[in-house]
Amino acid sequence: MNDFDAVDPLAHVRKLFDLDDDVVYLDGNSLGAPPRAVAERMQEVVRQQWGRRLIRSWSEGWWEAPQRVGDKVGRLIGAAPGQVVVGDSTSVNIFKALMAAVRGTDRAEIVVDAGTFPTDGYIARSVASLTGLELRPAPLDALELSDATAVVLLNHVDYRTGRLADMAALTGQAHAVGAKVVWDLCHSAGVLPIELDALGVDLAVGCTYKFLNGGPGSPAFIYVPTAAQPTFRQPLTGWTGHRAPFAMAESYEPDPGVAQARCGTPDILSMLALDAALDVWDEVSLVDVRTKGLKLTAYFRSLVEDLPGVEVITPSDDWRGHQISLRHPDAAEVMRELIARDVIGDHRPPDVLRFGFAPLYVRYSDVERAARTLAEVLAS
Ligand SMILES: Cc1ncc(COP(=O)(O)O)c(C=O)c1O
Repeated sequence: MNDFDAVDPLAHVRKLFDLDDDVVYLDGNSLGAPPRAVAERMQEVVRQQWGRRLIRSWSEGWWEAPQRVGDKVGRLIGAAPGQVVVGDSTSVNIFKALMAAVRGTDRAEIVVDAGTFPTDGYIARSVASLTGLELRPAPLDALELSDATAVVLLNHVDYRTGRLADMAALTGQAHAVGAKVVWDLCHSAGVLPIELDALGVDLAVGCTYKFLNGGPGSPAFIYVPTAAQPTFRQPLTGWTGHRAPFAMAESYEPDPGVAQARCGTPDILSMLALDAALDVWDEVSLVDVRTKGLKLTAYFRSLVEDLPGVEVITPSDDWRGHQISLRHPDAAEVMRELIARDVIGDHRPPDVLRFGFAPLYVRYSDVERAARTLAEVLAS
């Protein structure tokens, strides 16, 4: 056993995941691995809750699942209960959040970080054109916010480079000019301590299929702080966000709490797979997870940074998430070769190789094998 694995306080957590021992999985930042408990729970949900209880299950826990599972996500992102709801996709939740943030504003612009994940930029552009505001992409280090800025949409971790944004400083910068801030936590939820309540973040969204291991296409989340709920108005006024959905009233009246961020019928199978996956966090502290993530990424970096043709584009200081991104002219080909050798990362065009290090199940021995295999591929 690798020396670092022998003293890893999270080493036992890998056993909670259904993973092949001879595969090095470094793509948990795209699709997390399945916790073992998920398959068992899905059997129970399909056979018992759906099969035996049939429609009665809606009143035996299904209806409230988006808020209940939302509270579990909330514990991982520094949100007290009653402020997070799970449902829809990140893209849809970005739309709800931005539309709510600019509603009634007399300000002229929406700002998005220039390196944003594409869907955030696409949705922000739609919101701008629907509301008559300008969309201004700006570099994270020079956002140049002003009293014309209604809202800033920021990625906590840059999906391409792995750079971690300073949530405290940037939230403060937006608030200093009276702008709101919406954070996209897709690449940070579950792997580092986040303090949404303490920082006074206005709104946040994120997916659950990456480091939260909810499964392919598992529902996303949206954070609406208690203080903002009375004035939060999102445009997708579906019946499940109604104050009294089963009254079947003619007109829409939003739920007074976070449930107003719901829209249509929740995807219960995916939601309950996520519910089971989140139980893994009962076993770990986010501080340990973050510490291990920094160590894994530092170790990988030290082993690959001098390889021929490789340029590391992930920051070397602690302002990084749990991935290392390398630039290489033959990135697509190199990743194909790595995957053929059971070392799984991913490639982002044109020339970026991404390796994600999910601290709950990635071992230091995986880091060594990935680096060794990369060296072999580059030499061949
Ligand atoms: C930062 C970020 N935002 C959003 C998304 C995707 O959003 P959706 O869940 O709507 O597909 C991703 C997916 O990789 C992402 O990395």
